Amino acid sequence: MKTVYIKSYGCQMNVYDSERMVDLLAPLGYRAVLEPTEADLVILNTCHIREKATEKVYSDLGRLKEIKDLRTASGHSPVIAVAGCTAQAEGEEIMRRATYVDMVFGPQTYHHLPQMLAEVERKRSTREGSGRGVLNIDFPEEAKFDHLPELSNPQGVTAFLTIQEGCDKFCHFCVVPYTRGAEYSRPAASVLQEARLLVAKGVREITLLGQNVNAYHGDAPKGKAATWSLGRLIRELAEIDGLERIRYMTSHPRDVHQELIDVHRDVGKLMPYLHLPVQSGSDKILKAMNRKHTVADYIEILARFREACPDLAFSSDFIAGYPGESEEDFQATLNLVSQVQYAQAYSFRYSPRPGTPASVMDQQIPEDIAVERLERLQQLLKVQQTSFNQGMIGRIVPVLWEKPGRHSGQLIGRSPYLQSVHAEADTSLIGSILDVRIVDASLNSLTGQCLQTHYTQRISKSGQGDA
Ligand code: SAH
Ligand code: SF4
Ligand code: F3S
Repeated sequence: MKTVYIKSYGCQMNVYDSERMVDLLAPLGYRAVLEPTEADLVILNTCHIREKATEKVYSDLGRLKEIKDLRTASGHSPVIAVAGCTAQAEGEEIMRRATYVDMVFGPQTYHHLPQMLAEVERKRSTREGSGRGVLNIDFPEEAKFDHLPELSNPQGVTAFLTIQEGCDKFCHFCVVPYTRGAEYSRPAASVLQEARLLVAKGVREITLLGQNVNAYHGDAPKGKAATWSLGRLIRELAEIDGLERIRYMTSHPRDVHQELIDVHRDVGKLMPYLHLPVQSGSDKILKAMNRKHTVADYIEILARFREACPDLAFSSDFIAGYPGESEEDFQATLNLVSQVQYAQAYSFRYSPRPGTPASVMDQQIPEDIAVERLERLQQLLKVQQTSFNQGMIGRIVPVLWEKPGRHSGQLIGRSPYLQSVHAEADTSLIGSILDVRIVDASLNSLTGQCLQTHYTQRISKSGQGDA
């Protein structure tokens, strides 16, 4: 039996891709291990979104070289592979700088992993082209999804399911359109099939993934209307018996359709949580970012969602210190945050990325100013998150139990609003949804008391939950 170690950086789409790589490798006799020192094959599934993410890849590669040298000396030279978004963006450079790397491939070519491995083996056995590994970063004609094996074993009761990839929006700060390629939606039938398989293997909650998940427009199953929107897909997924919870991320304000808003009103299995990044509260900056929506558009969209689902929790992404951002523009972001009252949000200091229009714009913001703005923004978001969590104290919420907690006798799960909840509960309850009274709350988690010991939330197929 051979062993593989995969490290995922960046977003959930990379987590999904890494799991699919394990599925591809299983028929070749590979099993996953938790330490790179124990692996015959080491894959770094990288992220390129900000400079820090990319730097981390290069520093981890340095450590891998040491491991490879040591193990080669003892006759077990591991195969080193760099996958993901940094591989896509800087593949040639990685090959040049790190000659000990055997394979480099991007997010859309990993389905060729078995062939690439065979090629590495062939090169090693013939000592051909020493130092030059296998590079596979041309965007292929075919969609990788059509060439992946069936899922093997999902880990746990919640799972990611990628339904859409790539991006055609070209926000001026962002590398994703270059690293993931053009927008693509998987056919609905293949999504439904994968979801059924996940549920058959014990999954209770599926999070649908896409860089712009609400741009989804997959081919409808045979004999039905031409394409399905995300809203339509969610309605059909909700019909799967045994699937209790549906989530989706990340959405873009430009792709919000009424059909999606309506499913938040109609489908009880769809959790009341919306991650809809706005990036900035200033129209001037949104324009400079090429976001193609205004602050007013965004607020109006949130209001429509809220009307359909009054308890919807909002989340967003923000960038502080974008080129040209004045103190007034930044204040507008703080004002927007104050107006919306987020349950949770991610915020980043602007990071200039090679090849993006924003990286060569005038008026780059000095680091100290950007850092100070990010701190102020994060302070406000923390206050909001804590107050959202504290608002749960005394309430009874259904929690899907996912895994044992840090202390024995404790389980960790999630509320409908994606909050982490812990309570005393037996491990036999993992995978069940139980009503929990929230008794304490902090920035990052809720403490609960189980009200029942054996009960799974039942949600009527077309509509409201009864818990
Ligand atoms: N498709 C999603 C976001 C994907 S990238 C959307 O359009 O909202 C995830 C987040 O990383 C972005 O929302 C943005 O906030 C942040 N990000 C992307 N590029 C960045 C950069 N160059 N510097 C800082 N943050 C960035
Ligand atoms: Fe990047 Fe913008 Fe596409 Fe999101 S919509 S992935 S931020 S280019
Ligand atoms: Fe990073 Fe690529 Fe995801 S750049 S955030 S791993 S799409």
